[in-house]
Amino acid sequence: MRIYKVGGAVRDRLLGKPVTDIDWVVVGATTEEMLAKGFRPVGADFPVFLHPKSGEEYALARTERKSGRGYGGFTFHASPEVTLEEDLIRRDLTINAMAEDDQQNLTDPYHGQRDLEARLLRHVSPAFAEDPLRVLRVARFAARYATLGFTVAPETLALMRQLSESGELEALTPERSWKEISRALMEDQPQVFVEVLRACGALKVLMPEVDALFGVPQPPAHHPEIDTGAHTLSVLQQAALHKQPLTVRWACLLHDLGKGLTPEEEWPRHIAHEFKGLKLIKAINERFKAPRDCQELALLVGEYHTHGHRALDLKPSTLLELLQSFDIYRRPQRFEEFIAACEMDARGRKGLEERSYPQANYLRGAATAARSVAVQPLLEKGFKGPELGEEIKRERLKALKAYKETASI
Ligand code: CTP
Repeated sequence: MRIYKVGGAVRDRLLGKPVTDIDWVVVGATTEEMLAKGFRPVGADFPVFLHPKSGEEYALARTERKSGRGYGGFTFHASPEVTLEEDLIRRDLTINAMAEDDQQNLTDPYHGQRDLEARLLRHVSPAFAEDPLRVLRVARFAARYATLGFTVAPETLALMRQLSESGELEALTPERSWKEISRALMEDQPQVFVEVLRACGALKVLMPEVDALFGVPQPPAHHPEIDTGAHTLSVLQQAALHKQPLTVRWACLLHDLGKGLTPEEEWPRHIAHEFKGLKLIKAINERFKAPRDCQELALLVGEYHTHGHRALDLKPSTLLELLQSFDIYRRPQRFEEFIAACEMDARGRKGLEERSYPQANYLRGAATAARSVAVQPLLEKGFKGPELGEEIKRERLKALKAYKETASI
């Protein structure tokens, strides 16, 4: 049997990037031989094994043929006769279809190295179309390597468009899609992920609510970039620049969905877009089964981001309602993430990226003031049950009034 390093490990070594995961392909072996060597089989579906010591993945060289819709619809053929070239041709991108032996000799039948140098994400063969998830993968790689100058080859974009228009994307499971989306959002240039999906028509299928934001104007006085889609991309870009966590990036992507619902005659104003957007945020959250913390933050940011921007003008009672809605007493981190998303929103405006955002510290100070109300003295005064609740609220309101009068920004 012959063993080769394949895929991302080879690509990233050639790019001079750190290699974290190594995938191996084994040519000329049978399942029985692998088991005899102590490899542990992974699941029942594919001839993939874990190394007994390193735990890395070793896959028998295989060919694949699509036999139905979605991910389930695959038949594969693994046998000792399958060659390395046959295994590589079923892979997604030329830069992912290179193999390397233990002497670092490269097998590169589909010119991945040439495409690495040309900074091109190009599909290997028409077999690309056999897994629609690859549309999202290519967009994710585009987001990851945009800084290095990579773009999607026109013929690959055309194939991605065909796939998007064929209805194949609808067969993807929420879990597989979310894995790609969440990884893509955590890349350096997550806005490129959205741009590439849009360019091939996949955004319209996967996230029509986001797609609908392009072409929707906002008031130039507040939004010099005008277009709501362009704004959303800038907010996402700011979130990556400021190294925000996934929760914040997801909320940034979805915060303005309500603007896509505004009737044209009301443009460029978007009255109550915060509230109107909630049902869209909920739908998209559920479509991809986003984790609970992502779902929650997206909804809260959607509903309250304008409150964040107007923090300094809010009445103490409104400020208190905001803090209560976030349950800042038990969930301090979530309020921090809300503040971060609001700041990214403000910075995601053309020419205003560097403008300071005093609302952030003001909101933090307000949260501290509300939290400073001690419950013990109220208990000692004999308050209990709903009256205790009311009294705590009154005290917090007092603290916020005092804070508003004294806060220096
Ligand atoms: N692959 C593919 N089509 C897919 C998934 C994977 O062709 N839908 C192939 C590619 O050759 C890829 C390899 O399997 O390089 C390993 O896949 P994976 O570990 O998901 O990706 P990596 O390329 O290693 O990239 P990453 O750095 O994102 O893990």
